[in-house]
Amino acid sequence: MSELLSLSKAYEKYFKIGAAVARVNIDSYEDLLKQHFNSVTPENEMKYILTEPEEGRFTFDAADKIFDTARRMGIKVRAHAPVWHNQTGDWMYKDGDKPAAPELIFERIEAHTKAICERYNNDVYAWDVVNEATRDGVPAEGSGEDPVYRSSEYFKLCGKDFIAAAFRAMDKYSPNAQLFYNDYSECSPGKRERIVRLINELRDKGCRVDGMGMQQHHFVKPDYDEIKRSIEIYAEMGLRLHVTELDISLMAAINESEKRLKPGDPGFAEYIREVLVPSEENLAKINEMYVRLFEIYRSYSDVIDCVTTWGVADDYTWLDTFGLDRDMPKIKQYPLLFTVDHQPKPCVREIIDNA
Ligand code: GLA
Repeated sequence: MSELLSLSKAYEKYFKIGAAVARVNIDSYEDLLKQHFNSVTPENEMKYILTEPEEGRFTFDAADKIFDTARRMGIKVRAHAPVWHNQTGDWMYKDGDKPAAPELIFERIEAHTKAICERYNNDVYAWDVVNEATRDGVPAEGSGEDPVYRSSEYFKLCGKDFIAAAFRAMDKYSPNAQLFYNDYSECSPGKRERIVRLINELRDKGCRVDGMGMQQHHFVKPDYDEIKRSIEIYAEMGLRLHVTELDISLMAAINESEKRLKPGDPGFAEYIREVLVPSEENLAKINEMYVRLFEIYRSYSDVIDCVTTWGVADDYTWLDTFGLDRDMPKIKQYPLLFTVDHQPKPCVREIIDNA
């Protein structure tokens, strides 16, 4: 590939090209980032567990490492996922030995938001303010669980009001950045409906929600029609769209639909055998999926402002430790646009040529 080829330059007229980076890998990706990307997202470095491990004790070393590098490269940051049910210290939910009252949690969110915004505002253009607050599937009958919201610690203690508290605080301390709600399975009809309700309810309360973060982690062959429909539904709400965590598990090469076999199901071993040793054919399918997905994203570039992959190159991907899917075997995965040797995969050339 010629030195002149660049994903981010080829896509300047459509949207930004971003990647999630970590403090441990950003240096090794500097050349790739400079050539192909114009946005970065800290993978974990802005979550509570790393920025405020105990109440009032702020630790910014990890996030600083990413911001210092991004600044040097002239890249702005998509800041990611402070208010999330994962990677948050237990202190958030406690008041001494007792469970924390909602007001205390709102105060803590506000204090945290103020601190991170004061430190990073100049370099942040968008925030995933709240991550994954909708539930998966419908609640079991008699469970008493909410049909829309995830039964997280935040929700159990505050109801849905923690979400509005997070958006209000972010709006107050980061008035110039775009504020996003971010979630996964965002193109599955059931989940999409719950996300739409969550955002509408936030807006009814007067919260500023500028955009929807579509994670786009693919464990199933993408349902291209459902992706288009979802983009249209979110866009009709006046939301800007960012693809925030794009990657493609090997499972997507064999899962044709969401009705997939699970460990323990008859025939499961035969079913996953072919992904356990990644074949040229399955890697080629991932390649093709990328080309199709970018074709769709391009066709909605009037509403999509950024497409971020969840990692830069295949030598560092969360899927290696997460597994093929939930409760599935862990194997080396190849879910990104660049190889373990930091070379562009064939789809990169096609995606650039199609621009
Ligand atoms: C979710 C979160 C991300 C990241 C991934 C797994 O999608 O939004 O921050 O933790 O899971 O790496």
